[in-house]
Amino acid sequence: MQREPDEQRDHAHASEPLARDEIARVNRGAWDAMVARANRWTLPVEHAAIEAARRGEWNIDLTPTKPVPREWYPPLAGEPVLCLAGGGGQQAPILAAAGARVTVLDNSPRQLEQDQVVARRERLAITSVLGDMRDLSAFADRSFALVFHPCSNAFVPHVRPVWREAFRVLRPGGVLLAGFTNPVEYLFDAVAYERGELIVRHSLPYSDVTDATPEERAQREASGEPLSFGHTLEDQLGGQLDAGFVLTAMFEDRWPETTLGRYMASYIASRAVRPVN
Ligand SMILES: C[S@@+](CC[C@H](N)C(=O)[O-])C[C@H]1O[C@@H](n2cnc3c(N)ncnc32)[C@H](O)[C@@H]1O
Repeated sequence: MQREPDEQRDHAHASEPLARDEIARVNRGAWDAMVARANRWTLPVEHAAIEAARRGEWNIDLTPTKPVPREWYPPLAGEPVLCLAGGGGQQAPILAAAGARVTVLDNSPRQLEQDQVVARRERLAITSVLGDMRDLSAFADRSFALVFHPCSNAFVPHVRPVWREAFRVLRPGGVLLAGFTNPVEYLFDAVAYERGELIVRHSLPYSDVTDATPEERAQREASGEPLSFGHTLEDQLGGQLDAGFVLTAMFEDRWPETTLGRYMASYIASRAVRPVN
């Protein structure tokens, strides 16, 4: 398979056998099905949350439980915002109700439709774009004041192209808010994890395509989960720096209902700025 230069530099999954389009195709079906099953990450916000956002009272999440501090945001009124791999009817409608001009790019038509359901219900304008988070060629350089990227880069095998594209489409001074998974989540046997046990099984970086055991693969296929990938922190944080960003803030978030969440905060939120010069 021909590899792109960015994928060669990425530490993750050098021997990935599935073409990028094939992974996106499989995950499109998986996320469309998650909408049909009313998965937590596909449930649109209620009317009350939109009403509150119109009054300036809002908070949204990059990670499972902890809201992003309001001081992390640039001014939003009338400003162009990209929700990157952020369909599902949660963040985009709130940001639109808060006054931003919102575009959502997502790989799942049904996730994008969740945003449009809220947009129609609340008379909000949200632009939906079906696409891959690694290829933002639908957008011109320097188009956005904010790129809001909730935990979703675990669904692509290479994360550095995402950072480079986010940098390109942000205007100088623009802000990238990103959520991602600490790769320690991918060390453990996924079948035992579901039973509440932590058994170290995998090395990092991790790929569902090349590294899953037959039992893990069968479990994932039976539950309809998307293909996911555990990226190194060097690719997550170092990748943002290498793309040209300046990191200005971060926090960790714990998801207590998960097996690992009993022991540590395994989700990370970061704030990065495209420098003006
Ligand atoms: C956990 S959901 C995140 C969105 C959600 N609104 C939230 O609150 O976090 C992950 C999203 O990533 C999207 N996704 C997966 N692979 C993608 C890709 N290659 N390009 C763009 N979006 C992708 C899925 O369709 C899904 O909507």
